[in-house]
Amino acid sequence: MKYGFLTSGGDCAGLNAVMRAIALYLDNNVKGAEFVGIPEGYAGLARGEAVPMRADDFAGLLTVGGTILGTRRTPYKTMTEPEADGTTRFEKLIANYKKLGLDCLFTLGGAGTHRTAAMLCAEGCNVIGLPKTIDNDIFGTDVTFGFYTAVDVAADALQRVRTTSESHGRTMLVEIMGNKAGWLTLYSGIAGGADAILIPEIPFNIDRLCEAVAADRRAGKRCSVIAVAEGAVLDSEAPYRRKDRAFARAERGETTVTAHLAEVIGERTGTETRATVLGYIQRGGSPNAYDRLLCTRLGSYAGRLAKEGRFGVTVAVSRGEITFNALADIAGKYKFVDPDGEAVHAAEGIGICLGR
Ligand code: F6P
Repeated sequence: MKYGFLTSGGDCAGLNAVMRAIALYLDNNVKGAEFVGIPEGYAGLARGEAVPMRADDFAGLLTVGGTILGTRRTPYKTMTEPEADGTTRFEKLIANYKKLGLDCLFTLGGAGTHRTAAMLCAEGCNVIGLPKTIDNDIFGTDVTFGFYTAVDVAADALQRVRTTSESHGRTMLVEIMGNKAGWLTLYSGIAGGADAILIPEIPFNIDRLCEAVAADRRAGKRCSVIAVAEGAVLDSEAPYRRKDRAFARAERGETTVTAHLAEVIGERTGTETRATVLGYIQRGGSPNAYDRLLCTRLGSYAGRLAKEGRFGVTVAVSRGEITFNALADIAGKYKFVDPDGEAVHAAEGIGICLGR
């Protein structure tokens, strides 16, 4: 049996650990299992590239960050557009899956990757998806691998920023990744002791936010730390589409929501205000122990599904147990923070301002 691997979309901690678990499971449980690594995700498959690999190549990867295969963003919408040679990228993927003689392709990626994987299955390719992203926004799984490592990084950053905030008596904004979903900002904000948390799912009111900062100062607090998702939206912007919002912001000369907030909060509250953008350190580095365990469980389970010939699925976590969903059922769907969910109420219950 010939098994292919590809990693697609933004990287995160744990990609290598998942491939390691799949390869070790199959090497131990399927006689004569062969492996190939496809470089740079679907882009590599579209070019028909594959590198033969041995189980040993994966063995030492439990703690190695990034992806040894490399990755690329290949937006779903570009898949069906004809290229210079007249064929679509999607047609090339199917043709190369067959040409490479794959019996199964493991696709490690986020929502977009799963959407393409579902299309491949519909065309007769044997695909098994693995849910990766620091955004934790894949529908049908309680958690994605890479998420809790990023929570650790962002929560630690918030704590570090707090000591400087305290020293200087400043208001500090910390921008955390998450354009559409606020899981990372909400969880790391709570774990990092933020005073306010702004997420895309809860459009915030700037007056209320400034009042929360001012009230803390009146109460004698020296500083405020605000966790801001990169996709956070003002309530006045909420009715508009993302593209139109970005356009309107650019017209007003605003760069990011965080930079804009730093200016407004400084002016309105009279506090010295600074912004920090965490950026790619949230995606890089070694997976934490939670993710190493999760990646091993997901990968081993995916190996078992492949051995049993159960394709067209993606591995998932439900109530602490590893399980799977049909790719066709989850493709194109996202999982968002419930504005009235328990975690949001827990935060608001202890006085964290969600901007509403
Ligand atoms: O992987 C998801 C994500 O981390 C988003 O939260 C973020 O907006 C995006 O990737 C940025 O990715 P890139 O700059 O690599 O395209």
